[in-house]
Amino acid sequence: MLTEFLLKDKIAVVTGATKGIGRGMAQGLAGAGANIVIVSRNQHECDAVASELQDQGAVSFAYAADLRDLASIKELVGAVVNHFGRIDILVNNAGVAVTKAPEAMTEEEWNFVIDLNLKGAFFTAQQVGLQMIKQQYGKIINIGSIFGFVGDGNIVSYCVSKGGIIQMTKSLALAWARHNINVNVIAPGYIETELNKETINAEKVFTHLIRNTPLRRLGEVKDIVGAAVFLASAASDYMTGQSIVIDGGWVAH
Ligand SMILES: NC(=O)c1ccc[n+]([C@@H]2O[C@H](COP(=O)([O-])OP(=O)(O)OC[C@H]3O[C@@H](n4cnc5c(N)ncnc54)[C@H](OP(=O)(O)O)[C@@H]3O)[C@@H](O)[C@H]2O)c1
Repeated sequence: MLTEFLLKDKIAVVTGATKGIGRGMAQGLAGAGANIVIVSRNQHECDAVASELQDQGAVSFAYAADLRDLASIKELVGAVVNHFGRIDILVNNAGVAVTKAPEAMTEEEWNFVIDLNLKGAFFTAQQVGLQMIKQQYGKIINIGSIFGFVGDGNIVSYCVSKGGIIQMTKSLALAWARHNINVNVIAPGYIETELNKETINAEKVFTHLIRNTPLRRLGEVKDIVGAAVFLASAASDYMTGQSIVIDGGWVAH
């Protein structure tokens, strides 16, 4: 058995865990033995996913927080530490996108994306990081995107936020290596979820995506889970400041 992948008794906070990729990663980490904190803005949906995990034998805790708001992040971290006593793993996953031509982008739409994907991700890492520094241990997994590496004219704020995630990851990795905290990125390609299902399923878009994906299919949530378990586990102890791109080959050309 590859014991270095086991997460038995680790405490993992997964943001945006009620849907899509976040929910899949929460299930995967629970399957590897971690106790999971399910976070989104909707307490009822957090409770539902937490009870799904409990049914699979995992220990989980549901907490609603709006990660655009620093006070809400501080309350979340306080509640988790109060409940479990520590935080070993943070999956910084909650994110949104606005599809619009840059010349039509409003200030409100710009802030909608940046305030969660970049500001929220930073302050979540900061507040969890303060706890991890006390512990002298932690694994932070930031969820980027292929659009941290390549541009797209219709989702400029999203590309900016995900490019920022990569630089934030490298910088936090350097700042916190001496505290035994690993900070890495998973950068998915097109995975069908609530975030993009309307855009993705338009026939023209779907054909374009498949044509540009060397492996000739869209990604599925399960394609991301193994990398999350790896980055959360001792198997990645010597890796920090890096990105794992899971995109069917999209950014290879
Ligand atoms: N799907 C893809 O193809 C793809 C590709 C590359 C990267 N990604 C990235 O992967 C991550 C997850 O994407 P997804 O497609 O799984 O998204 P999704 O299905 O839309 O789920 C987003 C999650 O974030 C939560 N959330 C949204 N705003 C929040 C806030 N202010 N505070 C706390 N939680 C909030 C949502 O719950 P509530 O709305 O109820 O709060 C939900 O649980 C994002 O960072 C995204 O950029 C996705």
